[in-house]
Amino acid sequence: MALMGTVPRRCVNLPPGSLRTLVSCVLGDKVQEGPDLEQFQEKFGEWLGVPYVFGASAGRSAFQLALEALGLEKGKEIIFPILTFPVMPMVAKILGYEPVFCEVDPDTFNSGPEHIESKISDNTGAVLATHLFGQPCPVRELVALADEHNIRVLEDCAHACGVRVDGQQVGTFGDIGIFSFAEGKNMPCFGGGAIATADDEIAQRAREVLAKAPMPAKGAITKEAVTIWAKWLLTRPSVFGMTAYPVLRLKLLSGKPLMDSAVGNELLEEFISTNPRVSRLSNLQAAIGLLQLKHIDSFNEGAKRNARLLTEQLGEVEGLKAPRALAGDHIYVYYPLTLAPDRRDDLRHYLLRHGIDSKTTDMADCSALKPFREREYTEDKQKGPSEASILEICVYPVISENKIRRIARVIRAWAGLPEKVNGER
Ligand SMILES: Cc1ncc(COP(=O)(O)O)c(C=O)c1O
Repeated sequence: MALMGTVPRRCVNLPPGSLRTLVSCVLGDKVQEGPDLEQFQEKFGEWLGVPYVFGASAGRSAFQLALEALGLEKGKEIIFPILTFPVMPMVAKILGYEPVFCEVDPDTFNSGPEHIESKISDNTGAVLATHLFGQPCPVRELVALADEHNIRVLEDCAHACGVRVDGQQVGTFGDIGIFSFAEGKNMPCFGGGAIATADDEIAQRAREVLAKAPMPAKGAITKEAVTIWAKWLLTRPSVFGMTAYPVLRLKLLSGKPLMDSAVGNELLEEFISTNPRVSRLSNLQAAIGLLQLKHIDSFNEGAKRNARLLTEQLGEVEGLKAPRALAGDHIYVYYPLTLAPDRRDDLRHYLLRHGIDSKTTDMADCSALKPFREREYTEDKQKGPSEASILEICVYPVISENKIRRIARVIRAWAGLPEKVNGER
């Protein structure tokens, strides 16, 4: 078993000082309330370039806060990309809005005006500009289209914290930007999320919603923080090779599932059972957020560097598409490879046998999911890219350049190609 040189499917990116902050918040009784929340909201706003930021307990909770603060009339349609994290259209549905799905570009997985325009109706209230996998969508063009039709723009920046388009941060182009600080994102804060806005009225309503929103229990916040810290430890490449990796190899050998999280309909059922509502960001999460702000730009640069190296070292591999950075910045929160669905698991298993874990995506073709299938607008059998064709590789800077080169070599060997020498296509 390849214990050395292993690569986890995702590395939790906690900043230095996280454990110390966790311990001091617990000992100083500053897990729920404390001075860091205000400070983080202010500093995050400054970094983004917006006057208002409001924390929430997760990205999904932030989206709920965004919709409540936006105050669209119930029954309005909200346009989402067909390939997205399905909890987001589910939040809209729970709040009484009609999710409508538009196509995405198969190269970028993002939607632009050309995909959205035909879905705009007299009843459209908003569009969710989603920056998937760390690549910005054509947000300026999308805002221009929305302005023409007098509809609001929300930006899903769960995968895009720190992405700039012509120097301007995503999340600041539309009416509201939505951020996630969950463990699998680039800026985890022991969980959490936030909205950003420059609109005074939205900010006032967000304040009112949050004034009535609960703070999760101290025990629950602490437990989540300890669990995420443990995952940070287990996903250090050196520790991973001696802990989770052997378990995964044994599972692979015995034909058992590879510890994947719930996706699609199962994920939506789990989510609905949590009785979703807006709840607040804790002081502990905000304290980690303050630490993250010192590191996030250099972290994103490191992921970008690794992604570029991987793409270069992979070269042309028949039947396999590397992610393409088309315009603007791409921070590769995930590095999605695309291949025929019936070959994906073969590649995944081959990689795992060679020490490289990879991840099936949590994104889903929403038109295929139960809660959204009932609706009329999916009867035209619109289809998004199949989630079964996507395999995510971790390119976070904690993965060394040598390992990135090795990932490329292993993928090329799987495809029957020789190792690439510099300059070769
Ligand atoms: C694109 C996208 N939007 C929103 C979210 C929701 O974030 P959270 O898990 O913090 O609720 C996710 C989570 O994976 C996501 O992938």
